[in-house]
Amino acid sequence: MTDQQRRPWIVGVSGASGTPFAAAVLRGLLAGGESVDLVVSRASRLTLLDETGIAFRDAHWREDLRCWLERGADGKPDAFAVGGAELERVRHWPAGDLAAGPSSGSYPAKGMLIVPASTACVAGVALGLSKDLLQRAASVTLKERRPLVVAVRETPLSGQTLKQMVALDEAGAVVLPASPAFYAGATHIQDLVDFVAGRVLDAAGVEHRLYRRWEGELGGGSRSPEG
Ligand SMILES: Cc1cc2nc3c(=O)[nH]c(=O)nc-3n(C[C@H](O)[C@H](O)[C@H](O)COP(=O)(O)O)c2cc1C
Repeated sequence: MTDQQRRPWIVGVSGASGTPFAAAVLRGLLAGGESVDLVVSRASRLTLLDETGIAFRDAHWREDLRCWLERGADGKPDAFAVGGAELERVRHWPAGDLAAGPSSGSYPAKGMLIVPASTACVAGVALGLSKDLLQRAASVTLKERRPLVVAVRETPLSGQTLKQMVALDEAGAVVLPASPAFYAGATHIQDLVDFVAGRVLDAAGVEHRLYRRWEGELGGGSRSPEG
């Protein structure tokens, strides 16, 4: 694929708890053959360090991303295998680089997924602050009328955040709380993470096999996939 044909999903990772959600969405996009432009906020480097022990470095982003994507939600370091060809489809932009591609509407992109989204990020995008590349790319996505999915992670929610979530909905974004359901037969923490990641990909229209869909039958999720 030439650079001109490339139309990535922009994935913004902000500083809410939930870096395993981001990893699951990124794996899902890459498994689906999609290209990704990745923006990792300054604050999310703290949550990533806290939740995985990985210090994300701009200069060694590919190495650090591979460690992150190969880690399971339970902390196992080699739960997933991520190939070099898949990582080749990722482009990383430092969060402070406001001259980066995704800061302009003329940069080709399918849309943007913010996973997880902090309440600070929700506020910034709702107000159009553009305080860093992640928020600027989200504002650009809205103004270009491209799909924007905001996977909020906070509880409880203040009235202020609720109003900002309504503002995002009215602006055309899908506001998707990072809240797993239990009907899909989860037995491991990864299943709960993959459910949320799968719903993010559903909202973006990206095919995946991250969770078992409701089939209209009570108790279906507790059966084995074969039965
Ligand atoms: C370990 C840790 C966990 C956090 N978890 C959350 C969270 O779940 N939700 C949230 O809205 N903010 C959370 N925060 C606070 C955000 O990181 C903070 O508001 C930050 O300014 C967000 O910046 P960003 O949106 O630019 O990434 C957390 C911070 C730390 C250090």
